[in-house]
Amino acid sequence: MSQPAYPGRFITLEGGEGAGKSTNADYLAQRLEAAGIRLLRTREPGGTALGERIRELLLDTASDGMHADTELLLMFAARAQHIHERILPALRAGAWVLCDRFTDATYAYQGGGRGIDVARIAQLEDWVQQGLQPDMTILFDLPVETGLARAGARGELDRFEREQQAFFEAVRQAYLQRAEREPARFRVVDAGQPLDAVQRQLDTLVDELLAQRTGEGA
Ligand code: TMP
Repeated sequence: MSQPAYPGRFITLEGGEGAGKSTNADYLAQRLEAAGIRLLRTREPGGTALGERIRELLLDTASDGMHADTELLLMFAARAQHIHERILPALRAGAWVLCDRFTDATYAYQGGGRGIDVARIAQLEDWVQQGLQPDMTILFDLPVETGLARAGARGELDRFEREQQAFFEAVRQAYLQRAEREPARFRVVDAGQPLDAVQRQLDTLVDELLAQRTGEGA
């Protein structure tokens, strides 16, 4: 990974439904904090008061009929607020940021899932992020059926979770293609394994991150 212009590290977590991101984010946060890292934990869509309101619009099943372009723009609207209000200030102050989903999710869901042209997503990414990119992206990958069974067991489904299996297959393939194209940034974790095996994979990544730590966040 190249060294960014700020002392902190920007780590994003990605994956399909039911990939265990939340549980594993808890585990990662606990390990990083135990090593003395100042950590901002956050998520997308959301992460700010305004972003969480946009998230409600995006996930609400009452938003059925939302055009794919509207969905894309709302994702980036929430992201713009998140970057300016929370992510950049934290990174500049030397904290690390652990973010549950970021722009790879837009390429996977709005690009792969909804079929929006990736060039259009890239334009918004350039405009909104001005070069900001995660330093490491951990992709929790697992077969769609396994993930959907886990997500379904959690109860009421949101607007995305109600999509069909083909949508999630496209999401998974888009994620895997991105990981393949950017091996320096992505780490793919086999999330179909039992939790303790997944956590052993995360231990290796934590060691890698801590070995590179720089600046006042260290
Ligand atoms: P979550 O399930 O990780 O809380 O994320 C909420 C949903 O939002 C999830 O189904 C994926 C979707 N999503 C997108 O479609 N595009 C995006 O850019 C982001 C960040 C999330």
